Amino acid sequence: MLLANAEAWPGFDTTVDLLKGGEAGIPAMVAGIAKVEREARVRSVGYGGWPNMLGEMEFDAGVMDGTTRDVGAVGAVPATLPVSALAYEVMRHLPHVMLTGAGARRFATERGFAVDEVLHPDSKRVWWEKLEQQMTPQQRAAFPDIPLAPLSTAITDPERVRDTTVFLARDAGANLGAVTSTSGWAWKYPGRLGDSPIPGAGFYADSRFGAAACTHTGEMTMRCGTSRSIVLALRLGHSLEDAVKLAVEELAELKSGFLAGVVIHAMDAQGNHQVVNYRCDEEIRYWYWDERMDKAELRVAARINP
Ligand code: GLY
Repeated sequence: MLLANAEAWPGFDTTVDLLKGGEAGIPAMVAGIAKVEREARVRSVGYGGWPNMLGEMEFDAGVMDGTTRDVGAVGAVPATLPVSALAYEVMRHLPHVMLTGAGARRFATERGFAVDEVLHPDSKRVWWEKLEQQMTPQQRAAFPDIPLAPLSTAITDPERVRDTTVFLARDAGANLGAVTSTSGWAWKYPGRLGDSPIPGAGFYADSRFGAAACTHTGEMTMRCGTSRSIVLALRLGHSLEDAVKLAVEELAELKSGFLAGVVIHAMDAQGNHQVVNYRCDEEIRYWYWDERMDKAELRVAARINP
């Protein structure tokens, strides 16, 4: 069984084919999500994504094996694709769970990842156009040696905070897993991590109970531990529907800070799944496939209000 957000189209079938062939969930998902990261037409993750305020791409990714509960994650990684594969390397080759920034890039080189050109020319153009509009002539003349924080709120674009791809799978051995990848929030403050590399927030999996992963506003799911909330609620005996509802109620309790939409993707160990759209104006779609189906389907996420 495989669940992923709409942006997963370049690699979804790759993962389905690998799962059909008996491949374990995590390597099957890492192979599929790598295609999403490299696809320039996907303007929300990887090469097609958006840079930080300095015009630099910084990628985040996470991998979780729901059977061992091993996790690998990377954050704010420069010049590297696919970063989900790098997160998997962290899980397999280090005694750590997460690497960030220069250390993550150093490890990428050790593991044989090329130093990639990762800034899409159109992303560079849009990044500068928008930044230029927000800056005074003095700021423009001194850029980038200016305080960036005052620009941070002005330049925030709620339409571009959704830069994430998530895959959740149950493989032939009934192992659940999660893989995420993102270029993060467009025009983010350099060094900002979203929820995609944070286990428990952007993703979580426990093969005995279920798995969950989130897209859109990581600033909210990190505060609520949304993915872990869902899996814990399943462990405590709630249905998948109730577990997701509980997590949405927690999000709705937030009254301060940056608040916008969140999309939750979740499955339980019995083979049920739910994808819900909390507060996103646009219609949210997702990919779904299970072994009873000839091919994957693009479905519409249900809107949910607490
Ligand atoms: N959910 C992706 C992010 O907040 O970066």
